[in-house]
Amino acid sequence: MNKPTKKKVAVFASGSGTNLENIARLVQAGKLGCEIALVVCDNPHAYALKRAGNFGLKTAVIERKGFASKAEFDAEISKQLKENGVELILLAGFMRILGPEFVRMWKGRILNIHPSLLPKYPGVHSIRDAYRAKEKETGVTIHFVDEGVDSGPVILQRSIPIQSEDTLEALEERVHAVEYELYPEAIRLFLAGKTQQPSLRAKRSNP
Ligand code: GAR
Repeated sequence: MNKPTKKKVAVFASGSGTNLENIARLVQAGKLGCEIALVVCDNPHAYALKRAGNFGLKTAVIERKGFASKAEFDAEISKQLKENGVELILLAGFMRILGPEFVRMWKGRILNIHPSLLPKYPGVHSIRDAYRAKEKETGVTIHFVDEGVDSGPVILQRSIPIQSEDTLEALEERVHAVEYELYPEAIRLFLAGKTQQPSLRAKRSNP
């Protein structure tokens, strides 16, 4: 009997790429039933590219400044995804907002990881913002991407207490450690068909 083919995923990263590396390591070890068909990066200097290279992953560096409009930038990304047979997008520290048309085209097939208990602290400095606001807890959220910024149906969320004696660095370390557990868990749920966007679910039950 033929082995079932593994879903082809693209991981999008802009910076350090530790989540990319974590996912790549699990895929390589056969602990995540998918194949990384492409790493998309909008920053040619990102360390994520070095990490991707260490795993022999195919990369596409697509810089926003290379395109006259955001729509053209998004279209180039879509083209590369199609050429590589990508079926699922994993945003892992991708610090660029994808346009509404792109998001609509991939709806239900784009996941994002964010280091806060969304809807609290969206944006770029979420761990620091929660820390400075003297919150008692922050956390990690994995969610489907919609047309908003760090918004969309939540797949998994885990809270992380902030201790009064915490330094920002210690908190960041704990948040990242949770990220490395929670993203793979959410990806496994998705691959097992155990996550559905509410809108898609509604559609399916009403053919
Ligand atoms: C991660 O903490 C991720 O949750 C965050 O960027 C970091 C990327 O780290 N994403 C966002 O803030 C999205 N708004 P990494 O490059 O080492 O994986």
